[in-house]
Amino acid sequence: MAKALVTGGAGFVGSNVAQALVKDGIEVVVLDNFATSHFKNLTDIKCDIIPEDAAMVDWGKLPKFDIIFHQQAITDTTVMDQKWMMNQNTEAFRGLLKHVVKNKIPLVYASSAGVYGNQPPPHREDGSLVPENIYGFSKLQMDRLAQEAYPETKTTLVGLRYFNVFGPHERYKGHAASMIFQLAEQMQAGKRPRIFEFGEQKRDHIYVKDVVTANLCASHSNRRGVYNVGTGAATSFNRLIEIINEVLGTEYEPEYFKNPYGFYQNHTQATTELAEKEIGFKAKWSIEDGIRDYLTILYKLSKSPKKTARKI
Ligand SMILES: NC(=O)c1ccc[n+]([C@@H]2O[C@H](COP(=O)([O-])OP(=O)(O)OC[C@H]3O[C@@H](n4cnc5c(N)ncnc54)[C@H](O)[C@@H]3O)[C@@H](O)[C@H]2O)c1
Repeated sequence: MAKALVTGGAGFVGSNVAQALVKDGIEVVVLDNFATSHFKNLTDIKCDIIPEDAAMVDWGKLPKFDIIFHQQAITDTTVMDQKWMMNQNTEAFRGLLKHVVKNKIPLVYASSAGVYGNQPPPHREDGSLVPENIYGFSKLQMDRLAQEAYPETKTTLVGLRYFNVFGPHERYKGHAASMIFQLAEQMQAGKRPRIFEFGEQKRDHIYVKDVVTANLCASHSNRRGVYNVGTGAATSFNRLIEIINEVLGTEYEPEYFKNPYGFYQNHTQATTELAEKEIGFKAKWSIEDGIRDYLTILYKLSKSPKKTARKI
């Protein structure tokens, strides 16, 4: 049986990747320091766990793996401590990269659409990379380190620039969880959903089930490259609220407030052709179907909720 390491595997995306691998009969080991995750993401997943810090671990002393899925990172984009972010994201990756290149271990790692910053959409892999915050910069540096290593890499080395991921197991990210989760939680609690003025900021929201597929496609690709993992469609926050209302059977109006962040991405939208052509990945979940599937799991909804008169 093949053996895979999932770093950050107790987190949102990592635990979904781990679950899919176990389902495929792969032996999974998770490395996580539980900085932003919870054991509850792993209770249904039969895997071993290394409770270590990815920035400190001696990769050479770990068991041998056939493939590594690197999801570990500080994922809160409002963290401002630049040294900490670079250490936890880029330096942890540098150590891992050295190890996989030396030992010819296939590596799929999580980059981010944060590398594009506020460049005009759609965002192409070879377009301008102008991150607006230290998180995006730490991911850009990861892509650069990987690109430098391509010539000496003999196996898969793929970076995936996830756009805005939503889905099961994101609860423990707290305020860094997706807008879809935040809005649905407010609406389930009987509150009006709060969004930045005036709700027309758009994001390319991708369901985590598609992100898992992207990781699996990349792992079989034998490519060296960086690819967008988005749907190619951008949806406004106002529209998200409409969809969530539809799924929950509610009729809440948004409550707008001023955006305090100067570095906010106002419109993200992936181009998807390169990922489709080179790693065979294309997102399958529409935003409507993804939100319906997610909230049905999250709130154990019946498939067709009744309309209620919960308008505020
Ligand atoms: N969720 C998104 O919308 C999104 C978008 C773009 C990129 N990404 C990237 O995808 C990856 C997964 O993100 P996520 O959304 O699942 O977030 P997450 O916070 O749930 O996952 C990150 C995991 O890494 C662990 N971790 C952090 N620092 C660690 C360290 N030093 N040592 C060991 N473990 C450590 C955390 O405990 C957590 O389990 C990250 O690399 C993130 O940057 C996510």
